[in-house]
Amino acid sequence: MKTVKLGIAGLGHVGCGLIELVERQAELRLPGKVEIVGVSARSKSRNRPVDVSAYRWFDDAAELAADPEVDVFVELMGGSDGPAKVAVEEALKAGKQVVTANKALIAMHGQDLESLAQANDVDLMFEAAVAGGVPVVRVLRDSLTGVAIQRVSGILNGTCNYLTTEMLQTGRSYDEVLEEAQRLGYAEADPTLDVSGMDAAHKAAILASIAFTADLDFSKVSVKGVDTIELIDLNLADRLGLRIKLIAEGILSDDGVVCRVAPLAMPTDHPLARVDGALNTVRVEGDPLGAVTLTGPGAGPGPTASAVMGDISKLFSPTARSPFGRADHHVTRNFVAAEPAERSAFFLRVKLADRSGALASLTEALAAHGVSVDKLLQESADDSDVSPVAIVTHVCSRGDIDAASARVSALEASVGAPQVIPIDAAM
Ligand SMILES: NC(=O)c1ccc[n+]([C@@H]2O[C@H](COP(=O)([O-])OP(=O)(O)OC[C@H]3O[C@@H](n4cnc5c(N)ncnc54)[C@H](OP(=O)(O)O)[C@@H]3O)[C@@H](O)[C@H]2O)c1
Repeated sequence: MKTVKLGIAGLGHVGCGLIELVERQAELRLPGKVEIVGVSARSKSRNRPVDVSAYRWFDDAAELAADPEVDVFVELMGGSDGPAKVAVEEALKAGKQVVTANKALIAMHGQDLESLAQANDVDLMFEAAVAGGVPVVRVLRDSLTGVAIQRVSGILNGTCNYLTTEMLQTGRSYDEVLEEAQRLGYAEADPTLDVSGMDAAHKAAILASIAFTADLDFSKVSVKGVDTIELIDLNLADRLGLRIKLIAEGILSDDGVVCRVAPLAMPTDHPLARVDGALNTVRVEGDPLGAVTLTGPGAGPGPTASAVMGDISKLFSPTARSPFGRADHHVTRNFVAAEPAERSAFFLRVKLADRSGALASLTEALAAHGVSVDKLLQESADDSDVSPVAIVTHVCSRGDIDAASARVSALEASVGAPQVIPIDAAM
């Protein structure tokens, strides 16, 4: 087991989220231990949600990047140029592994940084730069290498998706919803990068570059945002069975890779149309796979820090791991038998002979075991005079529903065994 020593530059949302995760590492499944040896941000005195006083402080992120104690330099400052770029270059030149969440940096300078990383025989990892906590970069780069990809598309900006979803669902205008999103902290105080489509374009360019082994040329990416979408557009599209979403995509054409971000209308049953709110989703289509879709939280300190940590965990050596990802220092847990007496609501289907009093005998049998009815639906009797009844019960124990079901089964009016299926409250 090896300990990996981190230098973390940027102590904002994601940086502090990562420090929290390092402090909770006993709960994680890293191949070894992670230790923070130094941190850097703009202001040393700023109040932060985590205590960083125990770590060596660096005013200059580039100095931290080159510090001999640092194995992995983690860049979480942001910005395509300036200190983030200087520090990442410094780290790579000093032979450090680099992990970043900075999509602007990778979209603008990814190719040069890749060359620098290769020249110095180190890794440059950026899972968190695209779709936050949704693991798409490594899935594209490592898991889908056996697929000839034709299209990668998705919803890559949670703020834009939140705006269009809320407008349609609440009937409020773009400006009203944006103002509320800023107040609640879902949207930045300056939302231009998001609503103009630029943030999604940075991410789409990174995905397209990986999916199609293309040199990343951001100047060729066409970008349109949601800032011109009106409530009337969403409403009219809805009446036509369509959803309008900001879609980012890369497509392999005969001439090369087309990468664009623009509002697209799609049927309401399309996999991307059903992704609402601040979620991100990425759909990869290719041969001979067909399509695979990944959906989840595309931003936020926790999800984004978890993606950063996932990258860090790839930088331990030796890289060979047990097939189930286990290591000696992990907490070991045992499987236990499922608890038979779980409580939930249940879906109960009974077939009743079509005769008077049958339904009353059914509800009486349930009540005898304390099972009460939330919803009940009875279908008309079929040719053999059997009428199916579906019931959603209130929450009860598995023991009570099983006893009630046995009683129902024994009723004179009951045909065949009832069907009992727990309702998953989490779904
Ligand atoms: N937030 C998310 O949900 C999310 C999701 C995916 C990817 N990302 C990416 O993750 C990165 C960090 O995002 P964030 O939301 O954590 O940003 P943030 O909250 O604004 O934090 C930025 C941090 O960088 C520091 N910083 C800024 N300029 C600096 C400079 N010139 N020198 C030294 N330190 C500097 C700031 O220092 P002070 O604290 O002292 O001001 C702050 O600690 C960005 O590249 C972003 O695109 C974020």
